[in-house]
Amino acid sequence: MSTISLRKLQKSYGAAHVLRDIDLEVEDGAFVVFVGPSGCGKSTLLRMISGLDTPSGGEIFIDGNLVNDVDPKGRGIAMVFQSYALYPHMTVAENMGFGLKIEGRPKEEIQATVGKVAQTLQLEPLLKRMPRDLSGGQRQRVAIGRAIVRDPNVFLFDEPLSNLDAELRIEMRQEIARLHKQLDATMIYVTHDQVEAMTLADKIVVLRAGRVEQVGNPIELYENPANEFVAGFIGSPKMNMFDVTVTDFVDGNTTVAFADGTQIAIPTASSPSSGDRLRCGIRPEHISPQKGGTPFAVEVVERLGHGTYLYGGFLGGEKICLSLPQDYAAAADETIGVAFDRDKARLFDQDGKRVY
Ligand SMILES: Nc1ncnc2c1ncn2[C@@H]1O[C@H](COP(=O)(O)OP(=O)(O)OP(=O)(O)O)[C@@H](O)[C@H]1O
Ligand SMILES: [Mg+2]
Repeated sequence: MSTISLRKLQKSYGAAHVLRDIDLEVEDGAFVVFVGPSGCGKSTLLRMISGLDTPSGGEIFIDGNLVNDVDPKGRGIAMVFQSYALYPHMTVAENMGFGLKIEGRPKEEIQATVGKVAQTLQLEPLLKRMPRDLSGGQRQRVAIGRAIVRDPNVFLFDEPLSNLDAELRIEMRQEIARLHKQLDATMIYVTHDQVEAMTLADKIVVLRAGRVEQVGNPIELYENPANEFVAGFIGSPKMNMFDVTVTDFVDGNTTVAFADGTQIAIPTASSPSSGDRLRCGIRPEHISPQKGGTPFAVEVVERLGHGTYLYGGFLGGEKICLSLPQDYAAAADETIGVAFDRDKARLFDQDGKRVY
């Protein structure tokens, strides 16, 4: 187990600033997930921590020791990539034991360690196979096994499941959660998958253009995003967003007017100024059908089996999404009345910062 601290970490390639002033504390044994749009610097950040690449500025501490000048081998870290990067000419057992072999460990020790890890990952029947004779999920298990064999203090995963089909992803997601408990290791995990981020993380780090936008536990980020970017990034389908103008504040309720003039009172802790232009966010599951409610013009109905999404124009033309039970009867081109859960509405200023 290990702690990791990043202080003002920077990375530039020429004039391109890829990471800017990253400060982050990863506690001993934590499961931290990095999310963010493509190109925001997630893989670069993992490579800095692993030592595969050097920072342009700032400091990296592992267990309180500055490791900027420590080479990858000396950091006690193992990295698992999206492309499994197995050696094609070696068997599963040889792939898994290779790290120990180059460390010069005795053959018997390597065999015993590989055997034990293979058991954990149900790879025993496959030890003599070549990577080409494995399925994608099996290859990924071998790649994870190869990392575990080295008994690292920290695991770094860069989108390890994105090449797998949906069913295998779910299986491997649970496998990784189980390994985290069993190995008691610190894990940092990069993913584009909302479900992986929400279910695996103790702490999610949302990155955008090389900066940390917010750090928090999954539900905290979902319920209380610090800004419009995080609000839109965490959650699928996305939070619906509206331009609104503040008209009134009475008894802890701020009344805002939407584009079509509809006024809705939203509970807020303090009063914004009348006339303030804000953005109002409300998640798809917090808008529900109500007889006599605000008209919502259904344009598209998506039936997913476990639920139904309705898309259409609302409150003066804004396109929104509603998430409803699967048996909800609605047809495209129908107009229904809806109401939203006012306690769940979030307000942001023009710069995207959360204000209420
Ligand atoms: N060696 C390099 N030279 C120049 N620019 C680079 C280099 N490596 C990465 N970059 C740039 O740094 C930025 C961050 O890249 P990185 O691979 O960390 O993104 P990412 O968040 O992992 O994206 P993805 O989700 O697509 O994997 C990108 O704009 C990328 O083009
Ligand atoms: Mg990447």
